Amino acid sequence: MSSPRHPLDPLSTDEVLRARELIVADERFQRFEGGCRYITVDLRIPAKDVLRARIEAIETGGELPSIGREADVCLLDRVDGSTHEIVVDLDGGAISTWRRIEGVQPLATVEELSEAEDLVQNDPDFQAALAKRGITDFEGIQIDAWPAGNFGDPTETGRLARCVAFVKPKPLDSEWAHPVDGLIALVDLTHLEMLRIDDHGVVPVPEESGNFDVEAAEHWMGGLRTDIKPIEIKQPEGPSFEVDGNVVRWQNWELHVGFTPREGLVLSEVAYRDGGERRSILHRASISEMVVPYGDPNPTHYFKNAFDAGENGLGIAASSLTLGCDCLGEIHYFDATVNNGAGDPVEIPNAICMHEEDFGVLWRHIEWRTGEGEIRRSRRLVISFFAAVGNYDYGFFWYLQQDGTIEFEAKLTGVLSTGGIAPGEEPGHGVVVAPGLNAMVHQHYFNARLDFDIDGVDNSVVEVESQSMPPGPANPWNNAIEFTRRTLETELEGRRRLNTSSARWWEVVNPNRTGRLGHPVGFRLVAGENAVPYAHPDAAIMKRAAFITEHLWVTPYEPEERYAAGEYPSQHPGGGGLPEWTDQDRNIDDTDVVLWYTFGHHHIPRTEDWPIMPVARIGFMLKPTNFFARNPSLDVPPSVPHDPSCHSNKPGCDHC
Ligand code: NI
Repeated sequence: MSSPRHPLDPLSTDEVLRARELIVADERFQRFEGGCRYITVDLRIPAKDVLRARIEAIETGGELPSIGREADVCLLDRVDGSTHEIVVDLDGGAISTWRRIEGVQPLATVEELSEAEDLVQNDPDFQAALAKRGITDFEGIQIDAWPAGNFGDPTETGRLARCVAFVKPKPLDSEWAHPVDGLIALVDLTHLEMLRIDDHGVVPVPEESGNFDVEAAEHWMGGLRTDIKPIEIKQPEGPSFEVDGNVVRWQNWELHVGFTPREGLVLSEVAYRDGGERRSILHRASISEMVVPYGDPNPTHYFKNAFDAGENGLGIAASSLTLGCDCLGEIHYFDATVNNGAGDPVEIPNAICMHEEDFGVLWRHIEWRTGEGEIRRSRRLVISFFAAVGNYDYGFFWYLQQDGTIEFEAKLTGVLSTGGIAPGEEPGHGVVVAPGLNAMVHQHYFNARLDFDIDGVDNSVVEVESQSMPPGPANPWNNAIEFTRRTLETELEGRRRLNTSSARWWEVVNPNRTGRLGHPVGFRLVAGENAVPYAHPDAAIMKRAAFITEHLWVTPYEPEERYAAGEYPSQHPGGGGLPEWTDQDRNIDDTDVVLWYTFGHHHIPRTEDWPIMPVARIGFMLKPTNFFARNPSLDVPPSVPHDPSCHSNKPGCDHC
């Protein structure tokens, strides 16, 4: 057992086992004589003030506070469906709290989904419905269990999944090419029981293969390309980062790399060493929730609204990158440990990939009069993981740059969610991507929870807007641009949408610390692609995923407020999470603020998205704004030209 060295290190396999051992030994565990499922076994994050005191002690050489290891365990009673939140004191060998909750649904375990899929596949009535469609090879069927959602139907109670079917002609074929439209099974996951089969009529199953292997390239493209020469990334002296357990140091940056079953990758204690001073920026940053609302009212598709974090667990869905990763160069991998439904640790080797990447020009100026100048090349530190959630694969990439910028980018790939459509018909809410195959319009929303601590805990959020000035003596040439800064003071004021016509953005500042020229130090949230939801305000998803109705939410730090759609979004009727918390309208000025940034990718499919989607990218940047006295990358040395054929006559060529 490698003992954790940092209080934020994820639970080790031994700690996951220890948590279960202590729970099983507790007399309250006897209530589960009908069985229980371990939903998540996760590190209980130590109190923020203690973590900050620890950093302070390290910086000043003081005595480190003792920080115990605790686990947050979520259990599901397999008989009555109740949820149990248990805090386990791993050091003290005791249960600290045990709380039973009714009427909530924690995320679905892999075992539950597999059992539901097997149940549907072997159900005689479901098989009869398949036979009506000419499908009789029931082994060659892939059932896909979706979160049931909550549409206000009083008969739909309990822990539910809606299952749809796909035909899989051969075991390794892509089933997504062959959806069985119009047939939906409602399954009770707790009692593993078929509740209902809805058959909305026969739609022909599309026949064309949607495979994307080498054979498919040969079939559709006449073979693989032969004009690709190798690219090799060499770092003969090794990478420029230092790794100490889960703590990483690179180019003045310092941070802790963590991982949770629900969010996957988490960056904590992100700081920049500016001169001799360790300057804190983010206490913690993660993707707190995701939701993918589909925009087709067809009975096979209207319920598709997966919350990929809160209903499936992005960390649980993480893929091991052992089998090939998109990173080139000197790679450092972090393993991750999650749990299965029995509470066993499940190791994901190489879950997180970290490497350096050349990133083109950092800055340059060549004086045209003299031909002289300076050029610097940029590199960035990339920390990433991939989760495969159903048909989609999502990459989660954080980048740290030499100019002090932090960037997040989600990479969306995998296979489209599909339905069948009768020959000659046009889908009303989708695009035909193969004969008889409908890919429905949908949106992918992400919510980043950003707990800023810029040079200390107390920060404020400033909205910056630009506008033209009216003509007049103050604007004689009609060219004047005015920009205004307004501090968002309370949570209701902090609910904001982007506005391109005023170039609206938000800056997190420390109002108590100014830079060399008197500006408050801060970071600007630079939005990338974004969208607004088109579901009607009365739609179930608009209540259940209310975090998508605003781009920005700001809350005062509260440790229990962790996920944008609340702790238990699955089948929740709505209103949980950000809308509920921010209704309190608490103060957000000069206090410990948390920003929740929602960003959405609006996806009307294209034929180029089939049979597998080229990566779509969406994200945001956090750019230092009056945080440094000048360009912090002024000290990046010129690089030495290594290619004699290079056209540049200057050191540090920017052509390559
Ligand atoms: Ni999409």
